[in-house]
Amino acid sequence: MSEVATAKFKPRVFSGIQPSGGLTLGNYLGAIKKFVAMQEQGIETVYCIVDMHAITVWQDPAALQRQTRELAAGYLAAGLDPAKSILFNQSQVSAHVELGWVFNCVARMGWMNRMTQWKDKTSGKDAEKASLGLFAYPSLMAADILLYHATHVPVGEDQKQHVELTRDIAAKFNHDYGVEFFPITEPVIEGAATRVMSLRDGTRKMSKSDPSDASRINLTDDADTIAQKIRKAKTDAEPLPETAEGLDARPEAKNLVNIYAALADTSVAAVLGDFAGQGFGAFKPKLADLAVASLSPISTEMSRLMQEPAEIDRILGLGADRADAIARPVMDRTYEIVGMVRSRR
Ligand code: TYM
Repeated sequence: MSEVATAKFKPRVFSGIQPSGGLTLGNYLGAIKKFVAMQEQGIETVYCIVDMHAITVWQDPAALQRQTRELAAGYLAAGLDPAKSILFNQSQVSAHVELGWVFNCVARMGWMNRMTQWKDKTSGKDAEKASLGLFAYPSLMAADILLYHATHVPVGEDQKQHVELTRDIAAKFNHDYGVEFFPITEPVIEGAATRVMSLRDGTRKMSKSDPSDASRINLTDDADTIAQKIRKAKTDAEPLPETAEGLDARPEAKNLVNIYAALADTSVAAVLGDFAGQGFGAFKPKLADLAVASLSPISTEMSRLMQEPAEIDRILGLGADRADAIARPVMDRTYEIVGMVRSRR
């Protein structure tokens, strides 16, 4: 079904990141590094700063502005080339919320209720106090993707369910209106770092919202901080095993090996080939060196770009124009399919 449905769509990659805090190593390895790799494969790539998603929870306006520019700087510093990829912030292309509304009317309450991120974010707390936007969040995400008829969406493991929901929304829209208008998008969740874990607890995801700064590496951390966080990362006393299966019951060890493999663009098996039998006393300094060598140039370039906010805004503006040129015709056709009278065009 999905192959038939995507066959008539030309390959196009879309993905997004929320400007709701600093970028972590998880965002870098799970998302941005792959975005840059896909940009180099000659596929059309569209990358978004999803500021409308960010405000589903409270954002201080001045902080949101700063974080939006910082995220743009992070994308650019990591190798995103605005001549090759479209880079923009969501609120500058109004079709996102327009299609999001149509999808609010396609998606079912029951589907939204089953979203694990919604359940996690409202568990134990009063769901009544969560914003309506937070509940509808995945429907806006489906709009982001389908507005570009995106065929592939690179994301970390935590976004898999949202991309599956996007497929359900596309299929229901196509079915209800008797069209084959939206593709059935494929998530791209590959490599060693689809779920980078906390440095303090290998069973929890590395996250910008974790209260402990030691739990994560931020893309803005300097070399000493990165090295120190890796040195202090929780581990166990065993040497590294010969095979990946030997890491199965050792979440912290597994996480550090995964991070190494992803940073070095190699496989877990290759890392274990080099380090099997060695303890963390030997492995951690090597990992710290690799992390510093990979991330320091990015943080240096980010700081430089942050001194040029007008240049960042210019790039986002041009990106928004290019994004709009793809999105607007899709939105107009959607209105026609749905039966809206469009007399002003
Ligand atoms: P967000 O902003 O939470 O995260 C951005 C991307 O980083 C990945 N990621 C991780 N990957 C591996 N390990 C981690 N610890 C880790 N933490 C974060 C996420 O999986 C994601 O790919 N809903 C999305 C934003 C969004 C979006 C979209 C994504 C809105 N519209 C359309 C794709 C397509 C989110 O909150 O990501």
